[in-house]
Amino acid sequence: MKELFFDTIDSTNTYLKQHFEEYEDLTFVSADLQTAGKGRSGRTWTASKGKNLTFSVLIKNEKVMEKFASLSVLSAYSVLKVLKSYVIEDLSIKWPNDVYVRDDKICGILLEAISREKMEALILGIGINVNEEDFETGLLHEPTSMKKVLHEDIDIVSFKEKIYRRLNQTIEELKEGCDLYPEIEKYDYLKGKDVYCMIRNEKRKVTVIGIDADYSLKVLCDGKEISVSSDEITFHL
Ligand code: BTN
Repeated sequence: MKELFFDTIDSTNTYLKQHFEEYEDLTFVSADLQTAGKGRSGRTWTASKGKNLTFSVLIKNEKVMEKFASLSVLSAYSVLKVLKSYVIEDLSIKWPNDVYVRDDKICGILLEAISREKMEALILGIGINVNEEDFETGLLHEPTSMKKVLHEDIDIVSFKEKIYRRLNQTIEELKEGCDLYPEIEKYDYLKGKDVYCMIRNEKRKVTVIGIDADYSLKVLCDGKEISVSSDEITFHL
């Protein structure tokens, strides 16, 4: 495991995309400030300087890359376990890539693949709201942070150490074929919820059955059970 730190950078995901050939598997890149942080579906990810954890992990191991469908959920689970150790209650995973405290998002994950003829690398970008108090997202539903939940400042350096260690362990376990699915099922935020979603460009109302053993999402659509993968579905709760 190699660690790089930037005071300011455009985006840790973008940096690794541009430099993936120079770095080894499991290089962790973090920054105090991202000037062009990226979220999912072309959104931006904003976080005040030095108040949050924004980092990316470069993955080049073939075994892990083969299991990319499970990687977002497993990473969300790793973050959830560390947050739990800070005595944050009511944590869940909103499939495929968010960690929630009750109904509020505390962590987002952006998994990007670099592919030419074959998959060359994966970049796992993670943003965790740590000491942020004022979110200027313009969203109706504000995210939350560790500070907002615990009402105290969190030492980011030691939090980062714990997150890195846990993620490293999860990725090593994935190489060895360990399956955390039975554990993950317990933290399924969407399970049983009615949601509107786009499935293959069509807006549908579905009932979520839950995260499946292959890490796809099982939903009930027009009385039929179907499995959707994360690139086929977007949600509107
Ligand atoms: C989302 O919820 O939309 C995903 C957010 C991912 C944000 C992280 S912060 C570190 C890494 N670098 C980026 O530009 N994005 C990810």
